[in-house]
Amino acid sequence: MTPDNLIPALRDIVGAANVLTDDDCAEYESDWRQRVRGKALCVVRPGCTADVAAVVRACAQAGVSIVPQGGNTGLVEGSVPDASGEQVIMSLRRMQTVRAIDAANMTMTVDAGGVLQSLQDVASEAGMLFPLSLGAEGSCTIGGNLATNAGGTQVLRYGNARELCLGLEVVLADGQVWENLQGLRKDNTGYDLRNLFIGSEGTLGIITAATLRLYPQPAAQLTAWAAVPSLQAATALLALSHRHLSAALTGFEVMSQEGLRLVDTHYPHLRVPMWRETMWCVLLEASDSESEAHARAQFEHLLETAMEDGIVTDAIIAENIRQAHDLWHIRESITLAQAAEGPNIKHDVSVPISRIPEFVAQTDARLQALAPGLRLINFGHLGDGNLHYNVQPPAGADGAAFVAAHEAAIGDAVYQSVHHFGGSISAEHGIGALKRDHLPHYKAPVALQLMQTIKQALDPQCLLNPGRVLERRPGQMAR
Ligand code: FAD
Ligand code: MLT
Ligand code: ZN
Repeated sequence: MTPDNLIPALRDIVGAANVLTDDDCAEYESDWRQRVRGKALCVVRPGCTADVAAVVRACAQAGVSIVPQGGNTGLVEGSVPDASGEQVIMSLRRMQTVRAIDAANMTMTVDAGGVLQSLQDVASEAGMLFPLSLGAEGSCTIGGNLATNAGGTQVLRYGNARELCLGLEVVLADGQVWENLQGLRKDNTGYDLRNLFIGSEGTLGIITAATLRLYPQPAAQLTAWAAVPSLQAATALLALSHRHLSAALTGFEVMSQEGLRLVDTHYPHLRVPMWRETMWCVLLEASDSESEAHARAQFEHLLETAMEDGIVTDAIIAENIRQAHDLWHIRESITLAQAAEGPNIKHDVSVPISRIPEFVAQTDARLQALAPGLRLINFGHLGDGNLHYNVQPPAGADGAAFVAAHEAAIGDAVYQSVHHFGGSISAEHGIGALKRDHLPHYKAPVALQLMQTIKQALDPQCLLNPGRVLERRPGQMAR
């Protein structure tokens, strides 16, 4: 097999209609943020695990590398090819089968291309809850969620994608299939292979199916929106919420005034509450196992105490599901409003929750000194210590020129500050190509060496998503 006869071989495996070339590849070649546009040799769309394995074997024989792709909503340039025109994009989106629901085991086993929202619906129709939830859930896939170890808005109660996965099926770089879909909660038979693939961003294997952990549906879910006078007050409210609600606290998101201003500017019909009067708002969610009345009483008591303590200045509790949905929609629209405003710089960082106010104060000052007038669009999953510490160019500036001129220096300043505060430069979006060159500055050399050793052992030809997460080593083969 050579690269020249790879495309006919792929057509034989998946059918001609599922091998796209030239202009038909366009929608797969650029990332969600429209920051990068690559050029693929072709897009191949397997329909089952056997197809995936055969495609991997053909690519390995031809020495051609593969970029796995799910919903292509990733934010770190990991799901699109480079500009060489030599890489194959493998889109898993055709693989959508729900293989099994095991009500007694509280699991479902699904193909990797299942769209997250449709899997939430499948769980709900079976009377259970699949709690992974994020703004891109209408188009991201469970394979992509696991490959990035996605977080989202329910992590403080249910954990990341990793915690929601009991088993995987993975096609390895040599075309072998590793299957571990039994749905076991306990299995101490050696190294934890499942967790090696979760969060590996398509660099160690192609996830073709997963067994997912389901939960009971709560009896009631309530959402509240609160104005807080400072980020210190927001962290105090988080601690108070944990004390009052315990395991019923399922969401705690913070939003800065600048982030909400952008939502108000681009989506005025969403009617953002309270944002003009306060620098920070918080969105809280409680999931109650008793009843709505119980949840409401608990929430009211929490917010009354918070007001007496001076850590909340105003608050509303959604009256019904529609209102709750509208409040969540405002929160999820910050990313879209940033995109509508124009080019921007993203940082997805985590810092110990207790240190977040100081981190933000120091880093804000540092960035304003670097590029006066920049707008800090700071929001995210405060309950997990995860901030989207994003930067919008000064109002009226040429956005593209600002990003080109300042992104590197701003990124260095943010990441140095994150490091100083004992945090991580990627809390949930991953490394991809975007943060790859930052990683060696903040990850211990011994950890990087272990990662390279694992990559070399599992993918010696460097066939799977080369140059993502880790720099390609000299002598690694695939094109
Ligand atoms: P893709 O973007 O297609 O791929 C992401 C990475 O996974 C790539 O490296 C790709 O090669 C690899 N990959 C994809 N499928 C497979 C597979 N089957 N096997 C092996 N590797 C694979 N992320 C969060 O964590 N939390 C959030 O709250 C959040 N909110 C978002 C909101 C918006 C509006 C948007 C646009 C994105 C958001 N994201 C968030 C980022 C993104 O949605 C997640 O990273 C998601 O998990 C990616 O899934 P995907 O199917 O789109 O993967
Ligand atoms: C979110 O939580 O909305 C996304 O992960 C944030 C982002 O777009 O930076
Ligand atoms: Zn997020």
